[in-house]
Amino acid sequence: MAIQLDIVETPDKVAQKAASIVANLIQAKPNAVLGLATGSTPVPTYKRLVQMHRKNGLSFAHITTFNLDEYVGLPESHEQSYRFFMHQNFFQHIDIPPEQTHIPNGLAPDPDQECEAFESKIQSAGGVDLWLLGIGHNGHIAFNEPGSSSDSRTRLISIAPETITANSRFFDHPSQVPRQALTVGVATILEAGKILLLATGKDKALAVSKAMNGPVSPNWPASALQHHPDCTFILDQEAASLMTFTHSTR
Ligand code: F6R
Repeated sequence: MAIQLDIVETPDKVAQKAASIVANLIQAKPNAVLGLATGSTPVPTYKRLVQMHRKNGLSFAHITTFNLDEYVGLPESHEQSYRFFMHQNFFQHIDIPPEQTHIPNGLAPDPDQECEAFESKIQSAGGVDLWLLGIGHNGHIAFNEPGSSSDSRTRLISIAPETITANSRFFDHPSQVPRQALTVGVATILEAGKILLLATGKDKALAVSKAMNGPVSPNWPASALQHHPDCTFILDQEAASLMTFTHSTR
């Protein structure tokens, strides 16, 4: 069950590949369930999918989406909330009905109940067909920070200091970055039919190589993806620069 590797030249080509895989899935299954990520990495992929919607009529009308995570304490209207991000970068530009999009509510009065309900909604939708992921410098997937086990489920988590530093680029000051998030678990992600992890830039090279070639360990949560039967890493050359090729390349 090796992770499949797809190494392309540029971040734009990463987006091109990822968007065409998502579009093929939607064409084959118009009511597919998509798992989505925020962050900088998938933005060009969302742009391409929006173009496909506008130019080629790719329809999301029957698609259901689930996002990986949300900051605790930010209202939907906050421009750094993940709900706001998804609206700005994707949902407002396509034909998906808002009620078919699901993002954990970071203002839920009872976070544990919100997390349980989120898991139930994924189950009721029939599970995620394809989950699009990014990766943190410390190997996190969603907000599953180092220490997250491969049987973790959707839960409230404290964001690691290095992630707060990385994400402070989106805020005026590091002190404004929320300290907690609601995140799907590693096990939640592993239940998807297919997983596509996108990574670009040399600052992701170490995390990618630990995930792909290192032992499966909670120290590098993305390494749990080695247990998935259909997981592909789509990398640009910089993100792949520390890879050792003990796995098949295609
Ligand atoms: C986003 C998420 C995170 C990011 C990761 C990489 O919903 O869950 O795991 O995928 O932090 O972020 P970028 O793409 O901004 O480098």
